Amino acid sequence: MKDSNFLKEHNGRLMWHPMTSPQDSLDQPPTIITEADGVSITDIDGHRVVDGVGGLWNVNLGYSCQPVKDAIAAQLDRLPYYSTFRGTSNDAAIELSYELGEFFAADGLHRAFFTSGGSDSVETSLRLARQYHKLRGEAGRTKFLSLKKGYHGTHIGGASVNGNANFRNAYEPLLPGCFHIPAPYTYRNPFNESDPERLAQLCIQALEDEIAFQGANTIAAMIMEPILGAGGVIPPHPSFAPAVQEICNRNGILLITDEVITAYGRTGAWSGARLWGVNPDMMATAKAITNGYFPFGAVMLGERMIEVFEGNPSAKIGHGYTYSGHPVGAAAALACLAETKRLNVIDNAAARGTQLFEGCKALMEKYDIIGDVRGGYGLMTAIEMVSDRATKQPIDGATATKVQDVAYQSGAMVRVSGPNLIMSPPLVLSEADAATILTALEAGFAAT
Ligand SMILES: Cc1ncc(COP(=O)(O)O)c(C=O)c1O
Repeated sequence: MKDSNFLKEHNGRLMWHPMTSPQDSLDQPPTIITEADGVSITDIDGHRVVDGVGGLWNVNLGYSCQPVKDAIAAQLDRLPYYSTFRGTSNDAAIELSYELGEFFAADGLHRAFFTSGGSDSVETSLRLARQYHKLRGEAGRTKFLSLKKGYHGTHIGGASVNGNANFRNAYEPLLPGCFHIPAPYTYRNPFNESDPERLAQLCIQALEDEIAFQGANTIAAMIMEPILGAGGVIPPHPSFAPAVQEICNRNGILLITDEVITAYGRTGAWSGARLWGVNPDMMATAKAITNGYFPFGAVMLGERMIEVFEGNPSAKIGHGYTYSGHPVGAAAALACLAETKRLNVIDNAAARGTQLFEGCKALMEKYDIIGDVRGGYGLMTAIEMVSDRATKQPIDGATATKVQDVAYQSGAMVRVSGPNLIMSPPLVLSEADAATILTALEAGFAAT
C-alpha cells in the first residue's frame, strides 16, 4: 500500500466519487477508511469509530464475518467465475436460487434472477415488468409509477422512477412514461396532513387518481420501497402498502418492492413486504445479500411472473449481466444467508432499532435543531435537522456537516444526506455500540 502521505495528498484528486462533485472532494477530502473489524471502522490516522452507517446500509453482519470470508476464499480456489448465460450455469448460483426460494417463500417469491447490485436489480425488475405485459398481449402497458422521495438507484430506468430531483435533473431527459405519487411523509406533504393514517389514505387516493388519469391499461408496474430509505427513512402508516397492493392487483399493475435496503432483516422483519403483509410480484434485492463482501444482487419473482415466463419458449429473457450468478458472489450470499438466519438478526435489529429511535427522540427534547425523528422499524433511523422548528426551515449544509464531523470525532460515523442524518448500522450492533452512536450524536448537536 502507498504511504499515508501519498494517499492523503491524492485523496479527492484522482478519483471521481459518487454523489459528490470533483471540486467538493478536493475542498473537503473524503475520510479514508483503511481497516474495519466487528462493527467498527478505522481511518488512515488510526481513529476508530462505530460504523453507524453499516458501510452503505449493507454491512448487516459487520466486518469480521469469518464464514463469509472462508466461503469466498474456498469458492475462489474452486471456481472463480463461470457465466450463467444461455447454455451454462454454476453450482453455487443454483444452490443460492434454492436457498433464496426457501427464504422468500413467505413473500410468495420462488425464483431468482441474479444481478451485480441494487441498480441492476431495479433495472431488471422494470424490464421484466414490461416483458411480462408484452407476453400477455398487453404491449401498451409500458408506464411506471413510483413514490416521490423514493430512491431506486442510478441506471436510466431507476433514475426515471427516482423521486428526488438531485438524482434526476443532470441526466434528463429520462425515460418517458414515469409518474410520481406523493409519499406518505408526515413531516412534510402537500396536503398539510400530520396524521399518518389519514395521509396514507390521501396518498392512496392520489395513486388511484393517477391510474385513472393515465389509464390502467398503460401502466406496467408500481415500484416502491417498503420504507423510503435514502429519501430520509420514511415509514408509511401500516395501512399504506396493503392498499397499494390491492389497487395494483385490481388494475392489473405489477407491484415491485425495491428492497435493496429492506430485505434480509434491516427493518426487524425478513423483508419489507413481510413487514407490511404484502406479496409483491417482484422484489429487487442487493446490499445485505452479500453484506458488502462482494457486489451482488437478486430479483425475486412471484407466481404471476412465473406463470407467464415459464412453459413459454418465446419468453426469452434478453437481459442479464456478465456477473449474473457470479459463483463467488453466490458463495458469499449463501454464507451471509446462513449467518443471517443463524443469528436471527431481526431480533437484534428490532431491539437496537428501538434503542436508537428512542435515544434520538430524547435528543429531540434537548436540541431544537432536530425537527423530526423517524424510524421505529429495525435499524433504519433518521433525524431531520432544521434551522427553525416552527417554520421547518431545513438546516444549512455547513451546520449539517458540522454535526456529522463532530459525531465522527466523538466516536461514530453517521451520514448526512440533505437535511437528514441517517443511521443504518450493522444489525449485530451491541447495546453499548448503539449508546456510543447516541453519545457521539449528542456531541455533534451540542457543538452547533
Ligand atoms: C432502495 C434502493 N434501490 C436501489 C439502490 C441502488 O443500489 P446500488 O447502489 O447497489 O446500485 C439503492 C442504493 O442505496 C437503494 O437504497
